[in-house]
Amino acid sequence: MDMLKRPRRLRRKESIRKMVRETRMDKSSLIYPMFVQEGKNIEEEIPSMEGQYRYSIDRMPFELERLLKAGVDKVMIFGIPDHKDECGSSAFAEDGIVQRAIREAKEKFPQLYLITDVCMCEYTSHGHCGMLKGHEVDNDATLELLSKTALSHVEAGADMVAPSDMMDGRIRAIRTCLDEHNFKDTPIMSYAVKYASAFYGPFREAANSAPSFGDRKSYQMDFHNKKEGIKEAFLDIEEGADIIMVKPALSYLDVINEVSQKITLPVAAYSVSGEYAMVKAAAKLGYIDEERVICEMATSTYRAGADIYITYFAKELAKFMDEGRIG
Ligand code: PBG
Repeated sequence: MDMLKRPRRLRRKESIRKMVRETRMDKSSLIYPMFVQEGKNIEEEIPSMEGQYRYSIDRMPFELERLLKAGVDKVMIFGIPDHKDECGSSAFAEDGIVQRAIREAKEKFPQLYLITDVCMCEYTSHGHCGMLKGHEVDNDATLELLSKTALSHVEAGADMVAPSDMMDGRIRAIRTCLDEHNFKDTPIMSYAVKYASAFYGPFREAANSAPSFGDRKSYQMDFHNKKEGIKEAFLDIEEGADIIMVKPALSYLDVINEVSQKITLPVAAYSVSGEYAMVKAAAKLGYIDEERVICEMATSTYRAGADIYITYFAKELAKFMDEGRIG
């Protein structure tokens, strides 16, 4: 055969395959989402998310230690409160679950980088991400609650806040509030491009945060749309966001790609609970090879353009990166 070009030359051995990898990733870009709840001595497995737990504050440090040992030093905290009401007041209580968890985590592990999810749905009696007016979420009235929540997290020691509510104008409201209280240097990672997705199902079970009526389609985005995601990203950049998130990840690689090409901020992608649950369920049935699928999902997300990966598989991925399987 007279063939000059043979792509297989660069695939013959593991060493050369690694040399020509086009996608490089690093443990420093991993964020692990973690659930903390009221109570004592609780480490309760989430039924639809095998291997993921709800921790009471006294048990949380053991998991934080395991994460640090694996080389994951960024955690995103979700709170599961005891008390819910109309306006989600435990979201911004000084002694709320997230606020106490942050103080405890910071005291034990000052080297941890702590990010908090800022939203109302875990805290409201109706399960929506904001204040209601009749049967609708009142956008502008919610902004003050979100700002108060973000401020209370930062006052407790959070390094970064991540608003996930999808109200219009919340980045400006939170930025202004943090600046007024002299937290000018605390970054905001905006869940800017967040779709109304069935992939959040297991999370809502884990956090007990499903809406008691209706759905979230009046604030989260329609999955038919991509340009709208670019619009959301640009709006949040104008309002002062520091990092733009796309969520979910797996079904939205095209969106991640387009956002990463259009903006100059770091792009985070959130591989959500339903993605995790699918992998776990299929692996348990022996239908897929769990480890290889985890590697492929993560790499495709970075390849699409993500700089930061938020994933329940953070510990596993850190190990695979150490081993050189990916990265
Ligand atoms: C809170 C929030 C949700 C998730 C992150 N923040 C749930 C939702 O919007 O219904 C989902 C994360 C996951 O599924 O892993 N609004």
